[in-house]
Amino acid sequence: MFKHVAVSQLVALLVASSVCAQNTSIPIVVPDDAKPLPQNLLGFSIEQDRWPDWAGTHARNNFTHDALANYAHLTGKPPHIRVGANTEDHTIWSPTVTIESADFPPPNTITPYPEATRVVVGDEYYALSRFLPAGKYPVGTHMTWGINLGLDNATNAMNMANSILRAFSSAAVQAAGVVLDLLEIGNEPDLYKNNGLRPSNWTVQQYVADWINISTPVAQAIESQPLEAGPVAIQAASFAGQGFTPRQIFSLGILNSVPGKLVTTISQHRYSAAFCSGGDFPLTSFMSKANVRGNLTVFRDDIEATLMQGLPYILGETGSIACHGAPGVSNTAGAALWVIDYTLQAATQDISEVLFHEGVGFKYNFIQPVTLNRSTIDGSPLTPPEQPHIQPSYYAGLFINTFIGSSGNTQISELTVWDDNVSGYAAYEHGKLVRAAFVNLDAWLVSSVGLRPSVHVNPILYWSQDGSTTNTTGGSVNANAAEAAWKHEKVNAKRIIINHADDVQNLTWAGQSWEKTGDVRPTGRLVVEKVDLAKGFDLRSTEAILLEFTP
Ligand SMILES: *[C@@H]1O[C@H](CO)[C@@H](O)[C@H](O)[C@H]1NC(C)=O
Ligand SMILES: *[C@@H]1O[C@H](CO)[C@@H](O)[C@H](O)[C@H]1NC(C)=O
Ligand SMILES: *[C@@H]1O[C@H](CO)[C@@H](O)[C@H](O)[C@H]1NC(C)=O
Ligand SMILES: *[C@@H]1O[C@H](CO)[C@@H](O)[C@H](O)[C@H]1NC(C)=O
Ligand SMILES: *[C@@H]1O[C@H](CO)[C@@H](O)[C@H](O)[C@H]1NC(C)=O
Ligand SMILES: *[C@@H]1O[C@H](CO)[C@@H](O)[C@H](O)[C@H]1NC(C)=O
Ligand SMILES: *[C@@H]1O[C@H](CO)[C@@H](O)[C@H](O)[C@H]1NC(C)=O
Ligand SMILES: *[C@@H]1O[C@H](CO)[C@@H](O)[C@H](O)[C@H]1NC(C)=O
Ligand SMILES: *[C@@H]1O[C@H](CO)[C@@H](O)[C@H](O)[C@H]1NC(C)=O
Ligand SMILES: *[C@@H]1O[C@H](CO)[C@@H](O)[C@H](O)[C@H]1NC(C)=O
Repeated sequence: MFKHVAVSQLVALLVASSVCAQNTSIPIVVPDDAKPLPQNLLGFSIEQDRWPDWAGTHARNNFTHDALANYAHLTGKPPHIRVGANTEDHTIWSPTVTIESADFPPPNTITPYPEATRVVVGDEYYALSRFLPAGKYPVGTHMTWGINLGLDNATNAMNMANSILRAFSSAAVQAAGVVLDLLEIGNEPDLYKNNGLRPSNWTVQQYVADWINISTPVAQAIESQPLEAGPVAIQAASFAGQGFTPRQIFSLGILNSVPGKLVTTISQHRYSAAFCSGGDFPLTSFMSKANVRGNLTVFRDDIEATLMQGLPYILGETGSIACHGAPGVSNTAGAALWVIDYTLQAATQDISEVLFHEGVGFKYNFIQPVTLNRSTIDGSPLTPPEQPHIQPSYYAGLFINTFIGSSGNTQISELTVWDDNVSGYAAYEHGKLVRAAFVNLDAWLVSSVGLRPSVHVNPILYWSQDGSTTNTTGGSVNANAAEAAWKHEKVNAKRIIINHADDVQNLTWAGQSWEKTGDVRPTGRLVVEKVDLAKGFDLRSTEAILLEFTP
């Protein structure tokens, strides 16, 4: 009897240590398959109808400005901002409107903040771009503006392009240092045949001909109004799904057309699910390495075809769940960990920008830029109203941009972690390891009972896979000595601490809350731990850690 107990305890101990201890190899020298980690990897797409709320009208919206400026401080570049999406195809330019006039349908419980059905804008609307972060950074905010293809009216498209170009050549926008990079003609045109903007038998061949028709006057406007800030180009594709693909439009010759010759970026959209008519989505299906990878690898062939054309491939609009997100998933702390894994995973798959979609009152927002009078969850009245605030995913941006850093020469490589719930990435600057990130996606929920699980990660630093003794600048080194020097290092570590995956507040990053002030400043004491690489560290379920190497 005694013997039996002892044996089972021993087995339990062995099982516990082998399941919980993760040896993770981290190359000190950048591996050959590392990918670029651009300063602008994390950006935002903003729903066009409520753009003046985001920017501010008579003065800048300080909440938007400050929230974005925090991100800019970390990488040296403000997040890239695209304004467009569904309402891009419901917008017309008018010479008699100053800023904007829009028709909003009534709210309901599934969609508490519905999108405008018709938006009329004037020149001052685009000139509000001057309120985005600029000036203090080496570069100001770079932007992409959407143009209406849905209406199929070349005159309106030309009017919109001219108005945008006039705004960006105005003294005020030029002085602000906000730069127009791209115009996008049409949002998710592969859905036009489902949403009534085109007949149900509309084909990709007709799309390409139509796009060339409407984009030609846009290209002419671009060429006749060169901006001092630099050349403006065109972003193509912006498909919602794979109804149409970049590979199809390349083979139909889109890039050889007059507007096609100005295309410098291919954009695709992705949501992992859709809440358009409601539904129940388990948060745990998002906190899943397999599902994050499954949702991104669908683009592999299009990414390859795009890079072959010499063009970058971006997710120009993305988020957890389409139609503004789902309650209990998109607005939670667990979604913040999903954002980290999804964004960094995208970078390892040659996706150079990931623009998360935002609207006023949308559930998946990182930032709620204005006072809200009804609940984003069910549309019920909020008394008192809710002041501008950040949502949990904002912390993901702080983590990601700290991981990227400001060198402008950073690369990323995914680390092999033998745990279905833990993902790991290493960042390299000028070829040398500088940071590592680990995310434990195992969901610790309000309903979870017992002891909160954790994994123990032993980072095993090594010089090179091929036994090379060449260092990053080509000099020769003693690899054993170099490894030994790193192994005994005590490195700085910062964590995102979350009480429960389904919480919608009370996260901390490096010990600090970013939720408690009206201007998105951190409060509380900065907590930077020392991790002894020889001993490794524990990472609880629903937690992320960033290691900063210094040698
Ligand atoms: C982890 O690595 C250490 C040596 O660095 C080794 O002793 C141990 O067996 C490894 N553990 C596993 C689970 O591979
Ligand atoms: C916004 O911030 C600027 C600079 O800090 C300040 O001068 C201005 O008063 C603020 N505006 C509002 C409405 O708080
Ligand atoms: C196209 O747009 C222009 C400018 O808004 C407008 O004058 C014209 O009537 C529109 N054409 C059609 C066919 O709707
Ligand atoms: C598409 O449908 C329209 C009717 O909605 C019809 O007139 C047209 O011939 C169809 N085109 C093709 C290519 O089938
Ligand atoms: C392109 O424009 C021409 C001239 O306005 C028109 O006849 C043609 O139908 C258009 N093609 C498409 C595909 O929209
Ligand atoms: C994408 O993620 C969702 C939500 O986690 C999941 O249900 C779906 O199966 C994933 N899709 C793919 C293609 O992996
Ligand atoms: C909420 O109400 C305030 C005060 O009436 C108003 O200024 C604000 O624009 C409203 N917010 C939204 C999102 O409609
Ligand atoms: C991963 O997390 C799921 C629940 O989120 C859990 O069922 C599973 O046991 C975890 N896997 C490991 C290896 O810990
Ligand atoms: C690479 O090695 C050379 C020669 O040993 C040395 O001078 C140089 O500092 C090393 N560079 C790095 C980045 O380690
Ligand atoms: C967040 O913290 C506040 C005060 O610190 C507390 O009142 C609130 O219940 C917490 N909310 C959650 C979801 O933990």
